[in-house]
Amino acid sequence: MITVETLAELRAHIAQARSEGKRIGFVPTMGNLHNGHMTLIDEAAEQCDFVVASIFVNPLQFNDKDDLKRYPRTLSADQMHLKDHDCDLLFFPDVDEVYPNGQAQQTLVGVPEVSQGLCGGSRPGHFDGVSTVVSKLFNMVQPDAAFFGEKDFQQLAVIRRMVADLCMPIEIIGVPTCREPDGLAMSSRNGYLSAEERVQAVHLSKALITLKEQIRAGSSDFPMLIEEAKAYLNEHGLTPDYVEICRVDTLKQASTDDKELVILGAVFLGSARLIDNFTLTLS
Ligand code: PAF
Repeated sequence: MITVETLAELRAHIAQARSEGKRIGFVPTMGNLHNGHMTLIDEAAEQCDFVVASIFVNPLQFNDKDDLKRYPRTLSADQMHLKDHDCDLLFFPDVDEVYPNGQAQQTLVGVPEVSQGLCGGSRPGHFDGVSTVVSKLFNMVQPDAAFFGEKDFQQLAVIRRMVADLCMPIEIIGVPTCREPDGLAMSSRNGYLSAEERVQAVHLSKALITLKEQIRAGSSDFPMLIEEAKAYLNEHGLTPDYVEICRVDTLKQASTDDKELVILGAVFLGSARLIDNFTLTLS
């Protein structure tokens, strides 16, 4: 695997791969890679001939500067993981390479509607930062396909909408969430949990699964179900940021007539903020 830090080097390698007729798959990340990221790399390797990953801790998407400062940077371990999983090229730019005119001067890409509410409500400006950096990375790598985890369900919806609205010729592929044996969704932020918090963390997925089963069994008082789920989380020491039952296509609050649903939750636990979701199709 080659690691490059500049756009010029990246473009040279991409041009070479293209000249060989290779289909280019791209996995953008912020590093601190875990098995969830590796399923994205594996899927990209399955579907493409040349796999590019990026590691860039994007300052533009952090509304909390302390969160940005403490975000784990683990380049050597990440490079080893990527090598083991048949990644061909790692793009590891610094902030000046991505924002040469400064962050304040950067042209922004904003995606309406799906960026609002949920994580967009709790983290103002976060999705403008994500859509801006992902559109830049797409223009740098020019992949045929890009791979994103379904754990960040709203992020995936934002990227799909951006690609459609801006006519970007890139296939966006969502990859199912990877879970720990007890059901906790894998996340770089799980590393912030103490041993005790790690045990408590499983109650996020448990609360959302219970909600899903209640709806599947016919419960239709969504506000009450949400309140019960929040009470369950509080009882187990997790502070709910939000629990919502939404339509899969718009991420607007679902009504009882909707069939394609997604149940999303975010909680604060110690110094971590964890998110998770489950989809549900009703007949
Ligand atoms: O999901 C992430 O790691 C980031 O939001 C992404 C997509 C790499 C953009 O910085």
